[in-house]
Amino acid sequence: MSVANLKSLNELTSLCKRRGFLFQSSEIYGGVGGCWDYGPLGVELKKNVQNSWWKSMTYREDVVGIDTSILMNPQVWKASGHIDGFSDPMVDCKNCKSRYREDQIDLSKPCQKCGQSGQFTEPKDFNLMFSTQMGAVADSSNKIYLRPETAQGIFVNFLNVQTTMRKKLPFGIAQIGKAFRNEITPGNFIFRLREFEQMEMQFFCKPGSQMDHYAVWKEARLAWHLENGMRKEKLRFQPHGPDELAHYADAAEDIEYEFPHGWGEMEGIHSRTDFDLTRHQELSGKKLEYLDQADGNKKYIPYVVETSVGSDRCSLALMCDAYRLENEGDKEKERTVMKFDPKIAPVKVAILPLVKKEVLDTPARKLFADVQKNYMAEYDVAGSIGKRYRRQDEIGTPFCITFDFESLEDQAVTIRNRDTMEQERVSLDQVEKYLKDKLHF
Ligand code: GAP
Repeated sequence: MSVANLKSLNELTSLCKRRGFLFQSSEIYGGVGGCWDYGPLGVELKKNVQNSWWKSMTYREDVVGIDTSILMNPQVWKASGHIDGFSDPMVDCKNCKSRYREDQIDLSKPCQKCGQSGQFTEPKDFNLMFSTQMGAVADSSNKIYLRPETAQGIFVNFLNVQTTMRKKLPFGIAQIGKAFRNEITPGNFIFRLREFEQMEMQFFCKPGSQMDHYAVWKEARLAWHLENGMRKEKLRFQPHGPDELAHYADAAEDIEYEFPHGWGEMEGIHSRTDFDLTRHQELSGKKLEYLDQADGNKKYIPYVVETSVGSDRCSLALMCDAYRLENEGDKEKERTVMKFDPKIAPVKVAILPLVKKEVLDTPARKLFADVQKNYMAEYDVAGSIGKRYRRQDEIGTPFCITFDFESLEDQAVTIRNRDTMEQERVSLDQVEKYLKDKLHF
């Protein structure tokens, strides 16, 4: 049997549209750059990713969850350095007004859009934050930003959480939420978006201990990606050099995935020092120190190790990784199959009556109702059974249960395994146990 991996993001984009994973935002109006809508299967996939992250990060003694607002006091972004430092150097074509990142084009060549040479402006810093106005008066005093990272909601709540939850250092605060960046070159499907979701955790620790926690979190985060079924050889660590570090970090490393367009950052692990809390203390005038009773009541600003992964980018990597084209070119045997780990698969079980007849439909629907109590399931009666299997393979459903005429006699069904395509006859009263054994997460 021949097996091919995903060759291009275009292949995946068309599967995602065809099967209801993702649609271009406001598609009927021609779309809007850097924004995508999750369809019924895509949202299941993304929620499975987020639930897996939430469980692994907050179902533990030393990390708690939070959910903070997208709009924050603009002083937050002054303190964090995003107003002054969160920018890319840009040049504009004077002729057609196209804007480019200076580091992504050759200024000695003609504009890629209009073909004019020597027409570029001097590089100018372009802030990546989206801004809007709050309240009824539209002047600059009401300017407010859409958050470019969720982390700041955690920093400004550090003491609220620490005191109300009676947490001792080291401990972390985790959150999942939307972030917005006015990326100049969004693209590669959902790799670089203007509206996206982050899953971030800030781990507050005693100054001097940060590199130990950094090493532990690095390994923990890699292990999480592997537990979700990603292939080890497609993942690597990529340390940031001194000139690549963000303005808040003294050490940083990415977990990269090998996408069809090349290796790309999927998650960042950053040692953020005491930069953010110190700045918030300075600008707010509020003390953000920790009272360390275990160390002679010393007061200090904690250091922070951050883990930050995009739900969209992570979902993209999981889809790229799961994609297989088997027996390419063989009319009978070719199939596209998404080999998602069952935990991540949008649909866990499909119930397929062999033919569209009421005598099968009624008991099959009863089985569907039972299975749905525990798992996301689909009921599909349209088309030949072979076609229905192929459809479920393409969306990555681990198990298909076929209800046939014999089922009426022997009270048993056929369960087909997505990966091996093997079929087993299982008694109806054992289906629940069968699924429980195979789908434990
Ligand atoms: N709080 C730290 C921070 O935001 P980052 O490296 O800029 O660090 C962290 O972003 C993660 O967020 C990235 O690894 C990526 O998964 C995701 N991310 C960042 N920008 C993104 C974008 N434009 N589109 C989709 N995901 C993005």
